[in-house]
Amino acid sequence: MNLQIGSLTLNGRAVLAPMAGAGDRAFREICARLGAAYTVSEMVSAKALEFGDRKTRELMELGDAARPAAIQIFGSEPDVMARAAEKAMAFSPDAVDINMGCPAPKITGPGAGSALMRNPQLCGELVAAVAAAVPVPVTVKIRAGWDEKSVNAAEVAAACESAGAAAVAVHARTRSQMYAPPADWDIIRKVKQAVRIPVIGNGDVTGAQSAAQMLEQTGCDAVMVGRAALGNPWIFRQINSYLTESCRIVPPPGVYERMLVMVRHIDLMCRYKGERRAMNEARKHVAWYLKGLRGAAGFRRRAGQLESRAQLDALVRDVLAAQEPPEGPEAENSL
Ligand SMILES: Cc1cc2nc3c(=O)[nH]c(=O)nc-3n(C[C@H](O)[C@H](O)[C@H](O)COP(=O)(O)O)c2cc1C
Repeated sequence: MNLQIGSLTLNGRAVLAPMAGAGDRAFREICARLGAAYTVSEMVSAKALEFGDRKTRELMELGDAARPAAIQIFGSEPDVMARAAEKAMAFSPDAVDINMGCPAPKITGPGAGSALMRNPQLCGELVAAVAAAVPVPVTVKIRAGWDEKSVNAAEVAAACESAGAAAVAVHARTRSQMYAPPADWDIIRKVKQAVRIPVIGNGDVTGAQSAAQMLEQTGCDAVMVGRAALGNPWIFRQINSYLTESCRIVPPPGVYERMLVMVRHIDLMCRYKGERRAMNEARKHVAWYLKGLRGAAGFRRRAGQLESRAQLDALVRDVLAAQEPPEGPEAENSL
C-alpha cells in the first residue's frame, strides 16, 4: 500500500486535504494518528512569507505527529514563490505543494490559486522555480479547470509534470463550480492517463466505499479527503481497513471515542494556540463532532458559545449523559 512521491514514501492511500481555517496543526496530527498517510498545511501566502509574520509562521509549524507532511503555498510569481518555498524549508516540510485550485476571489484576483489554471505555461514555470529552490518533492493541487468551457486539468498536470512536479492532486470541480455540484471524477481519470507521476483524486470522498470507488473508477493512486474528515477523522482508519483488509467495514466510533478524540484535538489546539484563541476556533470543530448525536441541535448551539476549556468539559459531560447508555467494550472507556 506504499505510494512513492519523489523521494517520499506514503504508507497508505488516503491523505488529508489542505483546509484553510480548519486543517491546522492540531487537526492534521489527529488525522495522521487515525491513519491519514499524508497531510497538507493550510495555504500560506508566498508574499506574506517574505515578511514572515507570526500568523504565517504558525500556519507552517509542523510536528512529527502529522508527517509526512507538505506545506502549501500560493502565489503567481515564480521568483516570489521560489523564495517563499526556500523560507518554508525552515519548518522542515517533507514536500512543498503549490495551490492551483483556490476559487476565492481575493486569491484568484491577483492571479493565484485556480486562476493559474488559465495559464498552463505559468503553472510549469512556478513548479520549475520552486523545484529548483527546495530539496524536497514539489507537488501541485489543481482543479478540473477554470470553468466548464475550459476543462484543462490534464494539460496543466502534464505541464507541471514536465517542469518537475512529483505528484498532482486533482479536485474534480472547476473554479466556477466552487464546492457545490457533485465532483466529476472522470477528469481525475483523464489526468491519470495524461501523466506518469502519482495522481491524488479529490472531491466528494465521503467514506470507505466512495474512496474505493474513486480509486477504481479513475485509476488514481491515492484519495484526498477534505470536508468528510471534519468532525470525523476516523474516516482514514475506515478507508485503510476497507482497502487493505478485503473491504472490512470499520463501524463508526461510539460516542465515548468521539468525545475522547474531540477533547484530545481541542487540547492540542489549546497547546498550539493558547486557550482563548483555540476555544474560539474550536467551536466549529466541536459542532462537527457532535453531528448526529442525541440532542445535537442544542449542544451545537452551546458549542457555538464556548470560551474556555472548562466549558468544554461541562459540555462533554452533558452530551454523554444525554446518550443511550453504551453497550459492550465502549462502556469501559471513560474520559
Ligand atoms: C474549509 C475549507 C478550506 C479549504 N482550504 C484549502 C486550501 O487552503 N488549499 C487548497 O488547496 N484547498 C483548500 N480547500 C479545498 C479542499 O482541499 C478540497 O479540494 C475540497 O474541499 C474538495 O474535497 P472534499 O470534497 O473532500 O471536501 C478547502 C476546502 C474547505 C472546505
